[in-house]
Amino acid sequence: MRITCLVDNCVERGSALWGAHGLSFLIETEGGNVLYDVGPELVVLEHNLRALGLEDTEIAALALSHAHADHTGALAGALDLYPAAPVYANPGLLEPRYSVRGGELQGAGMQDVALVERLGPRLRASREPQEIVPGLRTTGVVCPRPFPPGISQHHRVRRDGELVQDPYDDDMSLVLDVGDGIALVCGCCHAGLRNTLALLRSQDVRPLVAIVGGTHLMVASDAELEQLVEALRAETMPRLYLNHCTGERALGVLQRAFGEQVVACPAGTVIDLG
Ligand SMILES: [Fe+2]
Ligand SMILES: [Fe+2]
Repeated sequence: MRITCLVDNCVERGSALWGAHGLSFLIETEGGNVLYDVGPELVVLEHNLRALGLEDTEIAALALSHAHADHTGALAGALDLYPAAPVYANPGLLEPRYSVRGGELQGAGMQDVALVERLGPRLRASREPQEIVPGLRTTGVVCPRPFPPGISQHHRVRRDGELVQDPYDDDMSLVLDVGDGIALVCGCCHAGLRNTLALLRSQDVRPLVAIVGGTHLMVASDAELEQLVEALRAETMPRLYLNHCTGERALGVLQRAFGEQVVACPAGTVIDLG
């Protein structure tokens, strides 16, 4: 079991990889290899795959954490690259997402009607957990959400003709079987990491060995970060490989709490999970 960060905002110093605001992971398992998110641009995904010697890797399926373009921008190209791969997501993936910046409305994901139509026949969408390959599944829609979600104030969707705060009902994470335990792989975790952890715990009681990916903690208050630390202490102290939208402040808080258990996860990071 191996997770490779193909695309992230950051790359390691001196790396031949390209950085881009977005995320993509390659998850290799005995049951098949899965691309989780594809990053913002095909040219970055392809460059990094080549630089890592992974361009010929067989891909059994794609999975998309949510609709935002930093995770799906390369999707049209990825559908061509992997023509036989189904695409796993929550049903909310197909809804166009928007962003309001400086009073201007901008598309933030899934504006391309032709792409949505093309995706249709290959989409495996469910609100419930779905097995992607043996030992790797989706969380399904993260609900309920008793804890603060990972929102950005400028994110919008249209509901009944009105622009409203994005509810992030498209957000899903992945759960990977790792020996006797599990690893949680997040995209942006807009649903909130504690909500996602609570859902995971309602679905699976095995030890959590790792949390990988973007956790959207930039806007979390100090009190929320402290509560997250306590929630993680209640786990069997997973290793944390954090990147993308986690935020440096949150990374610092978690590193102070858990030391070397917490590391950054720039593009090119390879996580061997046995
Ligand atoms: Fe996002
Ligand atoms: Fe993101």
